[in-house]
Amino acid sequence: MASPLASALVIAIDGPAASGKGTLARRLADYYHLPHLDTGLTYRAVAHMLLAKGWPLGDAPHAVEAAHLVDLGGLDRTVLSAHAVGEAASKIAVIPEVRRILVDKQRVFAAQPSGAVLDGRDIGTVVCPDATVKLYVTASAEVRARRRLAEIEARDGSGDFATILADIVRRDERDMGRADSPLRPAADAHLLDTSEMDIETAFLAARAIIDDIVATGSGS
Ligand code: DC
Repeated sequence: MASPLASALVIAIDGPAASGKGTLARRLADYYHLPHLDTGLTYRAVAHMLLAKGWPLGDAPHAVEAAHLVDLGGLDRTVLSAHAVGEAASKIAVIPEVRRILVDKQRVFAAQPSGAVLDGRDIGTVVCPDATVKLYVTASAEVRARRRLAEIEARDGSGDFATILADIVRRDERDMGRADSPLRPAADAHLLDTSEMDIETAFLAARAIIDDIVATGSGS
């Protein structure tokens, strides 16, 4: 069981596409009895609205309008998980005004008295710079592509490894290369390279880091 927590525990988890950060975030939220927000879904919701209306992804005024409409309580993972929506989300995520609006909503979520787990690309650096614990979850592009392919095959059929790998590399470049809030580890983030870990091992490693920080207040 989780140790009793004296103050709100905010866990910030960042990492590239298909690093396993989402699965890890859900496991940790469950274990520590904290609400969880997958912030990627907020960018996906904006992209999905633009795609549904046939508006170009570079249409900043409409993207801003869509960002205002995002309701954290109504994010439908099933609808938003489509590959095309993720690609589009990475494109609209470069618009600073869209980021500002979504970050404000994400910060309200993080400020709940219970604490919270948030995962994304800029949680430790921008959304929750004062988070209790910051994790940066990564894995090699090849390992991430292999995991993505296994997911696709388990769901509905076949995928092409080379295409998936190229998509992942392109997405990394866009998410790490943008001017506003690029993906990078916060200076005080704990790095978790899951290339050689299964989810259970990654979960136990993350728990060890979190419990140490909660117990000592420093994570040293
Ligand atoms: O984690 P994901 O694949 O659902 O994220 C989709 C895109 O949204 C990602 O490629 C970049 C953007 N994103 C972001 O810019 N900042 C976040 N905190 C989360 C996601």
